[in-house]
Amino acid sequence: MDAPSPKPHALDGETIVRVALAERAYDIVIGAGALASLGKRIATLRPGARTAVVTDRTVAARWLKQAEAALAAAGVATAPIVVGEGEGSKSYDGLQQVTEALIAAKVERNDLVVALGGGVIGDLAGFAAAIVRRGIEFVQVPTTLLAQVDSSVGGKTGINSPHGKNLIGAFHQPVLVVADTDVLDTLPPREFCAGYAEVAKYGVLGDLGFFTWLEANHGDVFNGGAARQHAIATSCRAKAAIVARDERETGDRALLNLGHTFGHALEAATGFSDRLLHGEGVAIGMVLASELSAELGLISPVDAARVGAHLAAVGLPTRLQDIAGFSQEGIGNADSLMALMAQDKKVKRGRLTFILLKGLGQAVITSDVEPSTVHGFLERKLR
Ligand SMILES: NC(=O)c1ccc[n+]([C@@H]2O[C@H](COP(=O)([O-])OP(=O)(O)OC[C@H]3O[C@@H](n4cnc5c(N)ncnc54)[C@H](O)[C@@H]3O)[C@@H](O)[C@H]2O)c1
Ligand SMILES: [Zn+2]
Repeated sequence: MDAPSPKPHALDGETIVRVALAERAYDIVIGAGALASLGKRIATLRPGARTAVVTDRTVAARWLKQAEAALAAAGVATAPIVVGEGEGSKSYDGLQQVTEALIAAKVERNDLVVALGGGVIGDLAGFAAAIVRRGIEFVQVPTTLLAQVDSSVGGKTGINSPHGKNLIGAFHQPVLVVADTDVLDTLPPREFCAGYAEVAKYGVLGDLGFFTWLEANHGDVFNGGAARQHAIATSCRAKAAIVARDERETGDRALLNLGHTFGHALEAATGFSDRLLHGEGVAIGMVLASELSAELGLISPVDAARVGAHLAAVGLPTRLQDIAGFSQEGIGNADSLMALMAQDKKVKRGRLTFILLKGLGQAVITSDVEPSTVHGFLERKLR
């Protein structure tokens, strides 16, 4: 862009987190009611740009009017593109629908795609923006807790392949993220809770002070207000710092996968169904990673237990036995879970990479855990 980007400026009570990526740097605006400032911010950032708002049916019913009103109030032209809700839209079909609709709406190189929704919409709309006309800029307006603290920040976009999740995609950073903390009030409690696992993750992986604060204040985070804003801003700051160090995940960014190697295997073992939401898989995965760290003598059993106790206190599942249908449909055995973990795209040259803890609030990336150790560990956990 020719024009220097305007100085970050927070309206009353808003927090601005800057993602420091040189010419791809952008602001995350976090605050109650921040959606109302969307049009003004876009008009300031990219004067004259038109927009297309990509969203899903559920979010459209609750928040599309407000988003359109905010854009109209600042004189920003917009067209809505509404897809079905759920992971199924992160598909070739969903991508075709959105890209064709963007072209039909005459969205051009200098216009903006606005992703209004959870991680599904952010990933899908972001990827569509990355490829239509060889790349259009986009704005993330995350409406789930998971999207506000994780998927809207960092520029990973994409869709699923029949072979696995997120296998087709691109790095495409947004030019702005607007996270309205009030929008989360309409989120189903189970979805909020699942997103909270990613919030706790930032404490467990890199910030003992934040984890300790969450142990004392999680009730307020669930209730909304200043504590929720603080938790979201702290999470975004943590992710922004890691992304700024390692945008393309050649090193440190993998720390964000704490709990995810186990978690993804559990999601796959339950057929990516309602039996286990992503964040719930991550919660169980984080507990398993903590317990494995304790077994390997990296952290104390007391610290490992603290991770599980906190996640259980907010109502997240923490044990394999907590997964719906654990006894009837089952989730497989240690062999099948190991096979699913080996399919994870974080596998490097056949070695499983694990994110383990060398302290509470201190995650490390390691690929020297023996498969037989993990196998034995899982066998005991499945009992
Ligand atoms: N790009 C990344 O870095 C990244 C990181 C983590 C996860 N992800 C992806 O994110 C996706 C999961 O995201 P998600 O958990 O936000 O799921 P989602 O987008 O499917 O949203 C969950 C459900 O909540 C509904 N919803 C969204 N906002 C709402 C609101 N304010 N009120 C009421 N209902 C609302 C949606 O319609 C949907 O039914 C996965 O596809 C995952 O792969 C991407
Ligand atoms: Zn995650």
